[in-house]
Amino acid sequence: MYIVKSVKELLEVKKGLKGSIGFVPTMGALHQGHLSLIQQARVENENLIVSIFVNPTQFLEGEDLDAYPKKDEADIKICELAGVDILFMPTIDAMYEKDELLISAPAIRGYILEGEKRAGHFDGMLQIVMKLLNISSASKAYFGKKDAQQLALVTQMVKNYFMSVEIIPCDIVRDEQGLALSSRNVYLSKEEKHRALCLPNSLKKATELIMAGELNSHIIKQEMLKVLNIADNIEYVSIVSREFKELKKVELGSSIILVAARVGKPRLLDNLWI
Ligand code: PAJ
Repeated sequence: MYIVKSVKELLEVKKGLKGSIGFVPTMGALHQGHLSLIQQARVENENLIVSIFVNPTQFLEGEDLDAYPKKDEADIKICELAGVDILFMPTIDAMYEKDELLISAPAIRGYILEGEKRAGHFDGMLQIVMKLLNISSASKAYFGKKDAQQLALVTQMVKNYFMSVEIIPCDIVRDEQGLALSSRNVYLSKEEKHRALCLPNSLKKATELIMAGELNSHIIKQEMLKVLNIADNIEYVSIVSREFKELKKVELGSSIILVAARVGKPRLLDNLWI
C-alpha cells in the first residue's frame, strides 16, 4: 500500500495504475462503517484509493475540529489489511490555498435539516469532495447512507457539474444494539450510549407504525418524538423524499426518515430508507 501525503505524489503513483479506480473519502478514526464502504469498493474496482483528511472547511466555529478523533496508526493498519492500494493522507496546505474559488450547497436542499443546524457545513464538504473526486479520477466513489443529506448533495453536485464519477450509496452499519456507528460515538459515556439507542428505537417505532398501515408523517413523527424524549436535545425528525422534499405521507420505496439529536456532547444522526 502506498501512503501519499501530497497531490503531486498521488498523481505520480496513480500513473502506474491499470484499470478502474474506486474511491472512499473519510475523515479517519475508521470503524466498521467505513470498512464496509472500503470492502465494497475493493470488490467492485481493480484499484482502490482511500483518503483520510479531517477537512477544516466543513467544521463550523466552535465545533470539534481540534478534538476530532485521530488514530492514524490503526487506520493505516486497517487500510493495509483491507487491501487498499493508495492511502491519501494530505496536509491542510496540500489541499487548500488562500482565497479559493468556493462551492455553495444548493439554496434549499443544502440549507434544511443538517444544513440549517450547521449552516456552511455542506459548502465545505462539497468543496473537499469535489477536490478529492477530481484528483482520485475514480469511476466509482462510495458514500454512506448514514449521512443521507451529504450523499444526496454529492450526488447532485456530480450531476450539476457533469462529473463522470458514479456515486455509490452504501448501507448503514450498526453495533449489536442498533446504534449507527460513528467516529464521534467515542465521546459517549456508557449511560449516554444506552440513551443514544433512542435514535434507532425511534426509527424502529416508525417502521412498526408503517407496517401497521400508518403513513401520515405527522402521526409517525409524534410517535417518534415520544421515543426520542430521553435524548438531551432533539434537533429534528423529518420525513423526506429521496430528493429531500418534505413528505406529508410516507411513500413506500422512496422515502427517508431522518433524526438528529444530541446525547451528551455529540450530535447523533440516524435514518431509515423506506
Ligand atoms: P466520515 O464521517 O469519516 O465518513 C466517511 C464515509 O463513511 C461517509 O460516506 C459516511 O457516510 C460513511 N459512514 C460513516 N458511518 C457509517 C456507518 N455507520 N455506516 C455506513 N457508512 C458510514 O463523511 C465524511 O467523513 C466527510 O464529510 C467526507 C465525505 C470524508 C468529506 O470530508
